[in-house]
Amino acid sequence: MSSSKLFTTFLFSLNLALLLQTSFGADPLFHFCSNSENFTANSPYESNLKTLINSLIYKTPSTGFGVGSVGQYQNQKAYALALCRGDVSASECKTCVSEAPKEILSRCPYNKGAIIWYDYCMFKYLDTDFLGKIDNTNKFYMWNLKNVSDPATFNYNTRDLLSQLAQKAYVNNKLYATGEAKLENSETLYGLTQCTRDLSSSDCKKCLDDAINELPNCCDGKEGGRVVSGSCNFRYEIYPFVKE
Ligand SMILES: *[C@@H]1O[C@H](CO)[C@@H](O)[C@H](O)[C@H]1NC(C)=O
Ligand SMILES: *[C@@H]1O[C@H](CO)[C@@H](O)[C@H](O)[C@H]1NC(C)=O
Repeated sequence: MSSSKLFTTFLFSLNLALLLQTSFGADPLFHFCSNSENFTANSPYESNLKTLINSLIYKTPSTGFGVGSVGQYQNQKAYALALCRGDVSASECKTCVSEAPKEILSRCPYNKGAIIWYDYCMFKYLDTDFLGKIDNTNKFYMWNLKNVSDPATFNYNTRDLLSQLAQKAYVNNKLYATGEAKLENSETLYGLTQCTRDLSSSDCKKCLDDAINELPNCCDGKEGGRVVSGSCNFRYEIYPFVKE
């Protein structure tokens, strides 16, 4: 079974307006549990996974990214990845990547694979090697319920900004970019693009371009939106949402 088959495919839409009322950065945005077989308590897989989780909690905050695997034998070996948003501090990153596996293990107990996203980080693990490959399976959308007054122009400007930020991210050593654009109504559009750093630069570009191509499905004429996958994500808003 290929790793991409292990997760159920869903395209989920969430109501950003509701999510914005939750506490700042602290609640998960979304998660998937894998539908692969379960592990059992005190199994080698559980022990390998817990070792791996602890090592990622330790090593991710300094750079904002961590990957690893633990175990020798097929079906006992665990693979994992943690990524913090490019602007968050090491201590915020640590808080997020410490919380994420606890939350996953309560939402997906005994699942060999799972993924969870927060504003500040994402955490993913699986019993097959998914590292270095674009994750086309785990994906969700979020959008602001508020409609813009001139969707055609706004959509054009959004795509333009995010395309520029995809160009900027894939040549950045953190595969991360933020930027803004002045709109005609004197508003400012703020954007962010980011890839997981197990991807090659060219796969990062491909992942972001594919995500940006989903703008019409996700966020047509909406004041804010995100396409978030296991390998890359973008976000745009008409208010600043990253720390400089
Ligand atoms: C795994 O365990 C969950 C409960 O924790 C159960 O609902 C699910 O059916 C199990 N999956 C498999 C493949 O056995
Ligand atoms: C935004 O536009 C959609 C489609 O035209 C409409 O269904 C929805 O009610 C509008 N939302 C708001 C908050 O006005």
